[in-house]
Amino acid sequence: MRIFLDTANVEQIKHGVRMGVVHGVTTNPTLTAKEGNADYEAVSKDICALVPGPVSIEVLVEGVEPMIKQARLIAGWASNAVVKVPATAEGLEATSTLAREGIKVNMTLCFSLNQAVLAALAGAAYISPFVGRMDDNGSDGMRLVEDIVTVYENYGFSTEVIAASIRHPQHCVAAAMAGAHIATIPYNVLIQMTQHPMTTIGISRFLADWQRLAGK
Ligand code: G3P
Repeated sequence: MRIFLDTANVEQIKHGVRMGVVHGVTTNPTLTAKEGNADYEAVSKDICALVPGPVSIEVLVEGVEPMIKQARLIAGWASNAVVKVPATAEGLEATSTLAREGIKVNMTLCFSLNQAVLAALAGAAYISPFVGRMDDNGSDGMRLVEDIVTVYENYGFSTEVIAASIRHPQHCVAAAMAGAHIATIPYNVLIQMTQHPMTTIGISRFLADWQRLAGK
């Protein structure tokens, strides 16, 4: 499983890349707005320059033609730019055209297996089931990830599954066990993944024991 950071914060992305564990990034209008820079293109290009893998950048318009038009622009911002399009009928129409042009699409806001199957048929490079938001609504978000992985394998679809709307480290464990190709995670969850109290205690003990000897 690869890890993407679900953020538009440059410092967080740089740290993740320095650790050697962050391959790509997913953004959305909410995350980008949070960073307070209204120049969508500039922020997105900066992020694309930071990571080796794909950076998902969402369209900011509705309607098939406006989405296609904006997607083409976004795809031209960087060689690793991926366009995020909602998993709707209009989104499928746009995705189908874009995929035929060789533009990679991440179909976002996926909440059902049917949406995921349609995304694969339309030629989406990625599908993003929103695990945490499903859990918020009383459904089992990770069950959807498992089902998508199973059905994609059944039919040999090449669309990759991005477990999105991840809220805590246990979601990452479950995404890996479910066979998600990618988990896109907030920075705080990445940091939580690195932490274990026994590791912290172990380091303190090792250092204290050595210092006792060194102090003799
Ligand atoms: O990757 C999707 C993500 O940005 C949505 O997360 O926490 O707002 O549901 P959240």
